[in-house]
Amino acid sequence: MSRITPYSRQSADELSNTLSALETRYERLKRNNVPLDLTRGKPSDAQLDLSDALDGILQGNYESADGTDTRNYGGIRGLREARELGAELLGVTPDLVMAAGNSSLQLMHAAACFAHEQRWQNATPTMLCPVPGYDRHFTLCESLGLPMRSVTLQDDGPDMDQIEELVADDDSLGGIWCVPRFSNPTGTTYSNEVVARLAALPAKAAHKHFTVFWDNAYSVHALHTDAPALANVLDLANAAGTQDNLFLFASTSKITFAGSGVAFFGGSSTTLDELETFLSAATIGPDKVNQLRTVKFLKGRLTDHMAAHAAILKPKFDVVEDKLSTALKGLSVADWTTPDGGYFVSLNTLPGLAKSIIALAANAGVKLTAAGATWPGGIDPDDRNIRIAPSYPDPQELDIAMDVLVAAIQLASARYYKQLLDEHSARRDDPTPTRSQN
Ligand SMILES: Cc1ncc(COP(=O)(O)O)c(C=O)c1O
Repeated sequence: MSRITPYSRQSADELSNTLSALETRYERLKRNNVPLDLTRGKPSDAQLDLSDALDGILQGNYESADGTDTRNYGGIRGLREARELGAELLGVTPDLVMAAGNSSLQLMHAAACFAHEQRWQNATPTMLCPVPGYDRHFTLCESLGLPMRSVTLQDDGPDMDQIEELVADDDSLGGIWCVPRFSNPTGTTYSNEVVARLAALPAKAAHKHFTVFWDNAYSVHALHTDAPALANVLDLANAAGTQDNLFLFASTSKITFAGSGVAFFGGSSTTLDELETFLSAATIGPDKVNQLRTVKFLKGRLTDHMAAHAAILKPKFDVVEDKLSTALKGLSVADWTTPDGGYFVSLNTLPGLAKSIIALAANAGVKLTAAGATWPGGIDPDDRNIRIAPSYPDPQELDIAMDVLVAAIQLASARYYKQLLDEHSARRDDPTPTRSQN
């Protein structure tokens, strides 16, 4: 815990001293200039090593449980045993799952193209985007010409009062992006009530084909065993009669090898049939050999495997939390999330400072995700959100990177208050009389 008086309460002299100490420390860190990268949520080498047994695991046996020769073409819905794995990740039955290529993002793109062409009749409705959110969802929308509208992400999920009111009145709103468990970047897990309201949302929307894109990328990526669970959205959608308007996504990208995983789509049987037909113009079938080896590797040991990931990741999240609270708690210059899972920590600076803090960190060698990336169009209206991705660097590197980040936050915040004080005293010393209003 910081014993320093908050900068906002320091006198001009105190703040000048603080600032010169912070400038000196920052210059020292800048001279060290260790190049470090906290930009993307990639698994570390140690995490990838956990899945090295994938290589050669089939030992020449390419036959699936139902006798399919996985080396050959065919089977757009994927192997039965792979769909069972997807069902475990998505919390649905295997008959409502498609096991596809190696990337859920690619499936989201395909599903959005399918919705655009067949459900939205080639119109480009606006997608609601809870913010801060996942930048690649925004890029995907941009690439398809789908406008975006930001909605607030609260501690228990998207602001449903705001969203229900918006969609009921406006038939140009065609869908919403959701990362319901350990959201990117805040780590939020949606509450049972929010999940139920999202499941029922298409029934309240003015747009006939309002679609909930449920990107459950981190469904089993808890950092500890007490992490909050997620309600079953498809069960709730079935109860609300909205099951055709719900697209579920997951993948093993951050379970096995990030570049050689298996992606899953879940939805109603109507949606699956329609999507299968749509996809059949683009593929004769997925990589079933990879599906078979992934299932063979994970079968019966998903929980243990994810615990091994957590054992590598948790100490890194602890470094982030420890550095932030030691340097910033009590200073009133930032707040941040302490996630129970996922890959990110979301930090809010004082308004207007995120860009300059990221630039200060970059000048001292530490790369962070660009300011604004967590907002549609890359513009954070308050310029205050910073996404921290602690997974890739080793704990020692992370320690150094966090020292640079907190030094940048302290320096930019102290400069901000110093400027406020200077402006205030300039106004006080200014002899020009203020013009009378009447
Ligand atoms: C929320 C979210 N969805 C999807 C992805 C990408 O998943 P995939 O590798 O399966 O394409 C990521 C990766 O960071 C993510 O954070």
